[in-house]
Amino acid sequence: MAVRHFLDLSDAGTDALAAMIDDAQQRKAARREWSRGKADADAPLAGHVLAMVFEKNSTRTRVSFDIAMRQLGGSALVLDSASSQLGRGESVADTARVLSRMADAIMIRTDEHAKAEEMARHASVPVINGLTDRSHPCQIVADLLTVIEHGKPLPGLELAWFGDGNNVLHSILEAAGLFKFNVRVATPTGYEPDAEFVEAARANGAQILLTNDAAEAAEGADILVTDTWVSMGQEHAEAKLAAMAPFQVDEALMARAKPDARFLHCLPAHVGEEVSEGVFEGPQSVVFDEAENRIHAQKSVLLWCFGKL
Ligand code: CP
Ligand code: NVA
Repeated sequence: MAVRHFLDLSDAGTDALAAMIDDAQQRKAARREWSRGKADADAPLAGHVLAMVFEKNSTRTRVSFDIAMRQLGGSALVLDSASSQLGRGESVADTARVLSRMADAIMIRTDEHAKAEEMARHASVPVINGLTDRSHPCQIVADLLTVIEHGKPLPGLELAWFGDGNNVLHSILEAAGLFKFNVRVATPTGYEPDAEFVEAARANGAQILLTNDAAEAAEGADILVTDTWVSMGQEHAEAKLAAMAPFQVDEALMARAKPDARFLHCLPAHVGEEVSEGVFEGPQSVVFDEAENRIHAQKSVLLWCFGKL
């Protein structure tokens, strides 16, 4: 079997992603009352170790991959760029070859998607994208799981995105094409997602609306999603923040969506910027279910990479 890298959702494809979400639901249900560090009964990755490379900060990705490996019976270790030789200029290619001799899989969070691709090109073990400037596929597996758990089937789903057309939105658009749901994208002019993701989603049968009108995007939506207006590695530009202000997800915007609509945010959130406190803390917000689901989603991604799904 060819080495299975997970750099974007399409590396797995619709059937494998559906299997991942299904497996995540089953594993989550089977261990509902268990302590978090206890391994699943079958411990499918016993003896396996994941090396996690971080060139950017992380709370959820770092902890969820570590706990995911423990629950699958394996273990994980962290290299951050500041304290590893990567930070002193050792090449990604050499790092990939070394880690491939020492670990069974690699997760990388990096500022340049090309570095994750370079890692995958030179690694002889699976490489997983733990966020790049271009995409965040692991987050979206967790988001799809969360949406389904909250009783919303993916085909025909109306998902609305507000604010910056960023890495997280790119992976949502990829998922829309794979699972045939529709995305209304409300951004200020100049902050739209990359056309490549929009066109690919449309070519795969998803309806993608690009608008500057947040109210239009929210009307009758099932799911409302936003993210920080300033992603890691981007400058805090006043002009950008001013342009984003009309795209805050607040109570008035939520009121335009379906009565049982849910609010998602990958976190960390900037309450009072991209989301109001009322929405973030309100009954339609499922952001902490979403955060927990990072563990369950990551387990499925790992199992798929190891050819066990
Ligand atoms: N959502 C997410 O990826 O969070 P972290 O940056 O904390 O990993
Ligand atoms: N778009 C954000 C997501 C953080 C999880 C960033 O790249 O910083």
